[in-house]
Amino acid sequence: MQSAQSSFENLRKDFPILERKVRDNKPLVYLDNASTTQKPNQVIDAISDYYQNHNANIHRAVYALAEEATEAFESTRDKVANFINVKNRNEIIFVRGTTEAINLVAYAWGRTHVNEGDVVVSTEYEHHSNIVPWQLLTQEKHAKIEYIGMDDNGELILDDLDKLLDTGKVKLVAFSLMSNVLGTITDAEKIIAKCKAKGVLTLVDGAQAVPHMKVDVDKLGCDFFAFSGHKMLGPTGIGVLWVKKEILETMNPFHGGGDMIREVHKYETTWNDLPYKFEAGTPNIADVVGLGAAIDYLTKLGMDNVRQHEIELTKYAIEKLSQVKGLQIYGTKDISKRGGVISFNFADVHPHDVAQIIDEEGIAVRSGHHCAQVLMERLNVAATSRASFYIYNTKEDIDALVNSLNKVARLFKL
Ligand code: ALA
Repeated sequence: MQSAQSSFENLRKDFPILERKVRDNKPLVYLDNASTTQKPNQVIDAISDYYQNHNANIHRAVYALAEEATEAFESTRDKVANFINVKNRNEIIFVRGTTEAINLVAYAWGRTHVNEGDVVVSTEYEHHSNIVPWQLLTQEKHAKIEYIGMDDNGELILDDLDKLLDTGKVKLVAFSLMSNVLGTITDAEKIIAKCKAKGVLTLVDGAQAVPHMKVDVDKLGCDFFAFSGHKMLGPTGIGVLWVKKEILETMNPFHGGGDMIREVHKYETTWNDLPYKFEAGTPNIADVVGLGAAIDYLTKLGMDNVRQHEIELTKYAIEKLSQVKGLQIYGTKDISKRGGVISFNFADVHPHDVAQIIDEEGIAVRSGHHCAQVLMERLNVAATSRASFYIYNTKEDIDALVNSLNKVARLFKL
């Protein structure tokens, strides 16, 4: 039987950008997938085919192209519903990405349901997009934001959640299914069960998890779920918000405009059915089509195989990186609790210097605070370097990373 690693190697030919040479004619080693992933021909071609053959506005006209465009757009809604296991396709709202999804919830749900003295809970390892919208909301409403802390292993301290829930003031707990910096996979089912027992709603940021493992939203049982297309082979500028129908029905619109209305009169307006009430204006049609192609691609691969491939790579990377002199790796070493994201630092060498030196070898990693400054404070660092893997990465990519980091260690005499 082939290992996930070898069967995945064949798919590199689908990604034209992986043929690129960078800097001094070095082969590109792309290890910044938590930031955004590369796109296969299947996605690029679907977008191009849409513009070449089917482009028209949707939901508005009866001519052939308009019907085709509407069908292409709406069929992605069905694909999304299947992919994350949502029963009601009308609970799927297309947005620009996870950031817009969370802002939509903070605005259209939060401004009705969060009041003075209430608490919204985030976590110490959240991305800024799951902190700042809640700060804006709670400041405006004279409510408070509180945090579930993180232990030295990079895992959430659920006792903190128990204490916060016991106050009776928590309205919402918002957390990511996988940390974009440490790769920690959150024990979401436990958090959601604790919240449910107290009648508290939960929002799950699936931006880092949905691309990398099978996610079953129905089984999770949360109330809000968000993810982005561009981290899962799809185009930028398209993402998904799922909200339970009963909750969507209590929410005001986010944006006003075309397509989200039933009737508009001089002094009042009634709203369109779900999900269109939350999709004002001409949407990002071509990129919704591209997202559909990305979902087809991942479905064909099988999300359990994707996860298995990344487990193999992550295990190998942690083993090899642990041998680099002076390198500190953050987060748990228990592979069952982490995805393919590894943050690391050399003592006294700035992560930007590390990224720049290894870029000369063609290796692309992100360095900086990764939009997670609360986590940087918790780790007591200004920044880290971060390597993150996806379906087209190989053990050779990791060897190249390790070799280049050994060079950094030698250069700085570590
Ligand atoms: N959220 C993206 C990252 O973690 C941009 O790099």
